[in-house]
Amino acid sequence: MRKKVGLIGYPVSHSMSPQMQNGAFEKAGLSYVYDKYEVHPDQLAEAVGDMREKGFAGWNVTIPHKQAIMPYLDEIAEDALKIGAVNTVVNENGKLTGYNTDGAGFVKGLMRHVSFPMEEAKVLIIGAGGASRAISYAMGKEGPKTIAITNRTMEKAQDIFSECLRDQDQVISLQEAEERLTDFNIVINTTSIGMKEDRLPLRVNHLKAGTVVSDIIYNPFKTALLKESEKRGAIIDNGVAMLVFQGALSFEKWTGVAPDASLMEKIVIEELG
Ligand code: ATR
Repeated sequence: MRKKVGLIGYPVSHSMSPQMQNGAFEKAGLSYVYDKYEVHPDQLAEAVGDMREKGFAGWNVTIPHKQAIMPYLDEIAEDALKIGAVNTVVNENGKLTGYNTDGAGFVKGLMRHVSFPMEEAKVLIIGAGGASRAISYAMGKEGPKTIAITNRTMEKAQDIFSECLRDQDQVISLQEAEERLTDFNIVINTTSIGMKEDRLPLRVNHLKAGTVVSDIIYNPFKTALLKESEKRGAIIDNGVAMLVFQGALSFEKWTGVAPDASLMEKIVIEELG
């Protein structure tokens, strides 16, 4: 019988993870099947019990369960504890451990475009929601020279700084970020601006050519930020990489082997049309 894995969330209908993961399982010759399960918030406890009982090898967790699932797990890995959210559960003989592969996945995708040593990296992170928290923590672990975080609501950026960043990092206003944009060689947009409206999260007049600019949005494929940055000679990357590499790291946790991430990326791009 094929081992079961999957995704729980509410809603989950839009997810491309089944195609991406099943393609990778097939390519690796592994007998797993990945399905999506819509779980209402009121039914989360029951769903976790059910998946444990049915012997799922593990599963992914998405909105709105990333925090809510934590009390139902047996152990939470350090990264998920720091980030305060679980996106991957691994079932080892009935023991459920929660991990977070979102931040590390993002960084893995980003690093494909970074050709300078991390000690020289000066990173600007825009936004202070859940995605920013995961990315801030994972970026800090890579050891860049500095990370500056900015957000419309400064208190939220301050919270992430206190909980996930390092002493040499800083919180700056959006205005300061705009004015100091030449200082950064990596710029990451974690806000949802650009998804619904064709708008920049900040003005990019001072962006220098060669800066790596990454947006976690993949729909649209190229946000206003990526288009404007590209015009200024930046190296751009969209949110496909984060989706692919968080999934690739989950795959590895369930199976013990690394998937063909290029194939996963190809599948996602095909699905996006
Ligand atoms: P996620 O968990 O996906 O990261 P979130 O917690 O809703 O989503 O965070 C969304 C981010 O986008 C936040 O940084 C938010 O800014 P605030 O903290 O000030 O709310 C930012 N964001 C969303 N819409 C925005 C808008 N119209 N203008 C400025 N920032 C916006």
